Amino acid sequence: MALINCEAYVTLVTSDSFVVGAGVLARSLQATGTKRKIWCLASSKNLSANSLEILRSVFDGVTEVECIDSGDKANLALLGRPELGPTFTKLHVWRLSQFQKVVFLDADTLVLKNIDDLFERDEFSACADIGWPDCFNSGVFVACPNDKTFEALLKLAEKEGSFDGGDQGLLNTYFSDWSVGPSSRRIPFTYNLTINASYSYAPAYARFKNEVKVVHFIGAQK
Ligand code: GLC
Ligand code: MN
Repeated sequence: MALINCEAYVTLVTSDSFVVGAGVLARSLQATGTKRKIWCLASSKNLSANSLEILRSVFDGVTEVECIDSGDKANLALLGRPELGPTFTKLHVWRLSQFQKVVFLDADTLVLKNIDDLFERDEFSACADIGWPDCFNSGVFVACPNDKTFEALLKLAEKEGSFDGGDQGLLNTYFSDWSVGPSSRRIPFTYNLTINASYSYAPAYARFKNEVKVVHFIGAQK
């Protein structure tokens, strides 16, 4: 029980348009019966007072943070998502030192089944990205907050930047042994079913759809 108090689900809201998604995510987590705290990082300067009030009413806690923007126009253009610079704000996860371990979920994810077993995994655990499966998708991951890691990530961002202009490229560079390290760091795809209009493996979806635990609505159109 004591450990449970040191563990939390965390999401990120960097604009008013993410508030509804984050609220739905929080409610979907609550519906799984989890006892872990459900927390929100919010870059409050970009949010209306009303948005902050909604987030405070839905989440167990809201931590207001400064927005970190990669400002990397070239790589974001390559990704085709010029609006994703502020996803660097996700790095604040590592500063939530009141928690020993967190399961981070993007605000565009929806939890369908209890996923508390993810807390048995170590930093850094994540699912493969469908675009390049030797990389992980940074919409769902297990991490252990630590100021040193936060500083190291910022340093890496300054030195090398991010190859996709967002948090995912930077995190894949930092946790670069994810695809070859211990297999427990590779979470099954059913914990981060990235779904978009061009999803191409319909037979696998038909076979495994009842096992899906988290759906992730990636892409500009949600
Ligand atoms: C992908 C990930 C998302 C991340 C973005 C930018 O879209 O799903 O979590 O923020 O890349 O790196
Ligand atoms: Mn996402």
